[in-house]
Amino acid sequence: MELSYSKRVKSRYDIYMEIKLKNLTKVFSNKEKVETVAVDKLNVTIPSGHLVGLLGPSGCGKSTTLFMIAGLLEPSEGKIFFGDENVTELPPEKRGIGLVFQNYALYPHMTVFENISFPLRNSKSFRLTYPNAKNRRNQIEKIVKETAEVVAIQDLLNRKPGQLSGGQQQRVAIARALAKKPKVLLLDEPLSNLDARLRIQTREEIRRIQQKTGITTIFVTHDQEEAMSITDEIVVMKEGEIQQVGEPQATYNHPDNAFVAKFLGNPPINLFDSEVKDGYLYINNEKALKVTLPDGVIQTGIRPESFRICKENEQGFDVKVDFKSTIGRDILIRFNLNDVYSKALVESDNHINKGDTVKIKLKPNGIHLFEKNGERIEKW
Ligand SMILES: Nc1ncnc2c1ncn2[C@@H]1O[C@H](COP(=O)(O)OP(=O)(O)OP(=O)(O)O)[C@@H](O)[C@H]1O
Ligand SMILES: [Mg+2]
Repeated sequence: MELSYSKRVKSRYDIYMEIKLKNLTKVFSNKEKVETVAVDKLNVTIPSGHLVGLLGPSGCGKSTTLFMIAGLLEPSEGKIFFGDENVTELPPEKRGIGLVFQNYALYPHMTVFENISFPLRNSKSFRLTYPNAKNRRNQIEKIVKETAEVVAIQDLLNRKPGQLSGGQQQRVAIARALAKKPKVLLLDEPLSNLDARLRIQTREEIRRIQQKTGITTIFVTHDQEEAMSITDEIVVMKEGEIQQVGEPQATYNHPDNAFVAKFLGNPPINLFDSEVKDGYLYINNEKALKVTLPDGVIQTGIRPESFRICKENEQGFDVKVDFKSTIGRDILIRFNLNDVYSKALVESDNHINKGDTVKIKLKPNGIHLFEKNGERIEKW
């Protein structure tokens, strides 16, 4: 269920915090003065109260971007705004952020209570706000209890991290990040140490916590399914540059280029070179589509779910199934089409076996055409 924006900002946190990145750039140079452009002129606005996924393959600059937002890395160029405030020069502790990393880095000798309260106990401004030690202790207890309740670990406060499951530890790390009531929550691959089931559970938990608090959150991951399943928007990056920003499903349905098309979706989109000739797109030397494009070679992307098995006497491509597996309601089949191993998801009431030759057809949706350089062809 989606909470409306107005409901979210009326949360306990009640903070309005939009994040704006302007031309944000990071160039690393090593001893030999060889430069790596890790992040290249990012321009993006993250709306207040949204959970945004920063998504892309390893090395594309996700962590570098997050660390610059956190103030742990200095940008080579560009600016970062929290609301109207330019925070580019502010040290991390003055930015009002909560950070959670892949390795939860809890203090093993402290209890859950002590771990969560640690940032408060060490905060100068907190001490100044509550100069009386007894008041301060009461206040800390209140905040820890509240925060623990948000992440549903209120019964674990006296345990040590070693007595918790990975998912519980990760929730403690989130509680610790939330204890100082940050304006922004930054999560860098927070689930990669968890097993598959716990990952799904914990990601849903993160979504719940984020909706409950209404806190603007950036969630870094290289796992497209993870990002697609819990975020309001995704920012897809490649080699330091933004490829596309949008709602997950809209981006999946309308990828701006072949990279985004390929990165989103599992099994991935089938992508192959194909020829346009005399108003038709040919795949495997067969007329696949009528198009109004000039003759030449383009890339055709077909989602696995955009194939279907032909009915009797229907025209289609003959393909030989070299792999088959049943996944719940669907059958995944693999075959060679146009010299590319292609995958299709078809309904399981089709009786298909490995080695069969079947006739398949394209469904009208889920076909994307791209120029040779990968750019989307909008009208065809
Ligand atoms: N301190 C550094 N010095 C030099 N190069 C760096 C440094 N930190 C990162 N890089 C380089 O910057 C690029 C982006 O790295 P970054 O850690 O942001 O990637 P990432 O998208 O988080 O990848 P992953 O999914 O593997 O965590 C990479 O090419 C990396 O090698
Ligand atoms: Mg990283």
